[in-house]
Parts: sequence; C-alpha cells; structure tokens
Amino acid sequence: MVFISLFCLCCVFFLALHHSFTLFASGRGKVIGRKWADAKNAKEVLALVQAEGWASSVVHAKADQKHVNAPCFYQGNCSLHGENLLGRCFCFPGWTGEQCEVDERQSTPVCTNRGDTCFYTDEAGVFAISLERWHVAQEAELVTWDNWDPVASGGDRINDHLLGFDLYREVGEIGANLGNFLEVGCGPWTQSVTMMKTRAFDVEKYVLLEPGALNYAANTKDTVYASGQIDGFDGKTVVVNAGGEHLDLFLEVFDTIMMVNVLEHTNNAISILRGLYNALKPGGLLIMNERWLDTFDPPEELDLNALYHPIRMKQTVFDHFISVGFDIIRDCRTAECHNADIVKNYGTSTYFIGRKKESCA
Ligand SMILES: C[S@@+](CC[C@H](N)C(=O)[O-])C[C@H]1O[C@@H](n2cnc3c(N)ncnc32)[C@H](O)[C@@H]1O
Repeated sequence: MVFISLFCLCCVFFLALHHSFTLFASGRGKVIGRKWADAKNAKEVLALVQAEGWASSVVHAKADQKHVNAPCFYQGNCSLHGENLLGRCFCFPGWTGEQCEVDERQSTPVCTNRGDTCFYTDEAGVFAISLERWHVAQEAELVTWDNWDPVASGGDRINDHLLGFDLYREVGEIGANLGNFLEVGCGPWTQSVTMMKTRAFDVEKYVLLEPGALNYAANTKDTVYASGQIDGFDGKTVVVNAGGEHLDLFLEVFDTIMMVNVLEHTNNAISILRGLYNALKPGGLLIMNERWLDTFDPPEELDLNALYHPIRMKQTVFDHFISVGFDIIRDCRTAECHNADIVKNYGTSTYFIGRKKESCA
C-alpha cells in the first residue's frame, strides 16, 4: 500500500512537470481502506473508537531528515527518536538530548489506547502520532465533510481565512503568476481557489496534495476538483491522494506553497514542516495558517474535539520554523486577523506569509 502510493506519487510528479497529467479516479462510492465508512457522523466514529481503541501507540520517525542545500543545519535523523526541524531535534515522548539520544521512557505515561497522553511532549506538545490514531481522526474528518453543505456553511471557513490573510494582497500583484503552486491538505473546496479568484492569479502547475482527495471526489458535495481539474486551470491541475508526510519526495520544485488548517489533523506534523521547507525553492513563498495550543492538556479519553485534532503543537515549533527558515512578510497573530469565536474555542494561530531564506546561514 505504502509502496503503491509512493510509487504513484513519484510518477505523477515527474509526469506532471513535463505533461499535463493528473492522477485521478472518478465515480462515486466508498473508498477502500476506510474502517468505519458506514458511520454517519463523527459522533458515531467516536463511539466506535471508544469501543475499540486504535490499537497502537507506536510513532515512527522519518529515516531521512535532511534539509536540502542547508549544510549549516544538523542533517541527522535525531537518533530516529524525534524529528529534525531546521537543525533542531524535537524528541518523541520518552527521549531527550540534543539528538534525542537519552532514553527516559520509564517516566513517560503509558498509552491507554483511547487517549493521546502517550503522544504528548513537554517541549512541543503532540507533534506525531501513530498511524492507527491518524486513521481514526481521518475517518471523523471524511465523514464530516461527506455530510457538509458547503454553500450553506461557506465551505471550510473560507471567509475567515480570506480576512485573516487580508484578501491575499501580500501574496502578489493582481494577475501575478505563482509558478509551480502546491496546496497541502486542501480538503474538498480548497482555500487556494478563492485566493486565485480574488487576486486573478495564474500558475504554471496547480498541485493538490490531499490524503482524502479520492474520497472527497467520490462522496463530498461540490468538491472543486471532482472532475480531476480545477475550473480555469485545465491541464495544469494535478491531484495527488497522499498526506503531507510524502512531501519529502519534492525537493525545491515549488515557487509557492499554501497550507491552511492542516497540521493538527496529520500523522507527523514536524516532518511536514520540514517537507514544506525542502519542497520550496530558495526564495519560494509559503502561505500558512496553523494554530498552536500551549495550554491544552491531552485528554486521557477522547472527546469530539480531540478526535478530530490529534496533533496539538506548541508555539515554540512555529517560532523556530518561521524565524530560522523564512523572511517574514506577514505574521498576524492578533485579534485583528482572527475570528473571535474561533480563537475562543480553538486557541491562537498565525496568518503567515514568508519567503524561504536563500541560504541557511
Ligand atoms: C480542516 S480540513 C482543512 C481543509 C483545507 N485546508 C481548508 O482549509 O479548506 C483538514 C484537512 O487536512 C487533511 N489531512 C489530514 N491528514 C493530512 C496529512 N497527513 N497531510 C495532509 N493533509 C492531511 C484532511 O484530509 C482534511 O482535508
């Protein structure tokens, strides 16, 4: 399964850059691999999880944690007990030290199989989870969007983000070409389509990397790439049904990358941040909105909010990523760019636009 998706991903990308090629499966129906596809809503998924648990607390480190063209960063893999982000190791629970070489597992909580405490680290919060835990969160996510009315709801907070990014003015002049463009974790309706329309942007390639893409195309209402192409970007759109953890295949190929409200849903968020850095060309533009949770205690037993959001990273991870890797264009963390209700319920985030530094020095 993993082999097939990696293989497809490589092929798709190389073909995509040379031809107008799209990986896509059409038609409606259940997508193979969903464990609880008959659940009608996230509450039903939660009930199934509470009955069954998710069976594993094993978190896997990425074997190769290099940073492209960044010799001044530590290039190792944090002893495979953590994730290297721009030269700093963030260690998995039970490991400490500069390169996560110190074993302190005796003092870490044991996994209950129904809670997230065993994934929690004091330094970074929860930044990586087991694959089984990710599948549980993803099931709730897919079932939610499959039953969503995007017209009545305005998609997934599209207007909030439009305002948070100040109508995307700082991304470029009206009509600018964003080059090879990627949106990670784009959901069914994307945020980029609104940005492209609002600013009349063009692109060379329009790549969407989304692990639920095939499901959304088959089961979700008004998925904007249901035909395999985005309206107005025919022949340029490439839809890849995979998670951001596979970004490490793309080395310095994108001029612009967008990611909005994704990390808290993923399997290994720090590996995704590293992947974003590596996938951007030097001087490439990152448009990102993600939240942090410094005071969130991971619950022993899952509630609905925790079910959807297994990753709960602390602000320090974002501060490190932004300050070391990027020249900042926008980093709005205050009320002026945030919907007050969302802040009250979900904590603080940044509306960030920045250029990848030309070198790591
Ligand atoms: C809250 S939705 C946001 C969708 C979209 N970014 C938006 O703002 O409209 C989170 C999305 O993250 C996707 N996701 C979950 N795990 C992911 C991963 N490992 N890599 C990339 N995307 C992931 C989910 O499938 C879901 O579509």
